[in-house]
Amino acid sequence: MNSFEIYNFNKIGNLEIGYLTALEEKKDRLPFEIKRVYYIYNVPNQVNRGFHAHKKLKQILICLNGSVEIRVKKGDVTENFLLDDPAQGLFINDLVWREMYNFSNNAVLLVLASDIYKEDDYIRDYKEFLKLCK
Ligand code: TYD
Repeated sequence: MNSFEIYNFNKIGNLEIGYLTALEEKKDRLPFEIKRVYYIYNVPNQVNRGFHAHKKLKQILICLNGSVEIRVKKGDVTENFLLDDPAQGLFINDLVWREMYNFSNNAVLLVLASDIYKEDDYIRDYKEFLKLCK
């Protein structure tokens, strides 16, 4: 499994009636069972969020409205993704550092997660993250 990857979801509908995207367990290539859903919204444009990795948690980030940029880091590799399409998701595996920035005014970022919230799964120190990656 890749450390991070863009998923293109199904999209039902057309310009005239609008669109619907459905994500179903065991279909749609979802790489984990969803145990938690949360969303981030009303983030002021100058605020950057994230700045952590997870020991075990896997996530899919979907920008339902507006846009946001995500920077992911794994080892020496850094990649930036612009999320601005609700039919796309960014899969982020465990042990990947993530930073979220440039939230548009109306951005709503939906997160599908493989586990319930556990603070002890967070790695919030970048040096510790690099150590754990080795
Ligand atoms: P955090 O994951 O650090 O947010 P971000 O990476 O977007 O900056 O979480 C922010 C706060 O919310 C932190 O105090 C933990 C709390 N929180 C929960 O209580 N439950 C959750 O499912 C999540 C994701 C966060």
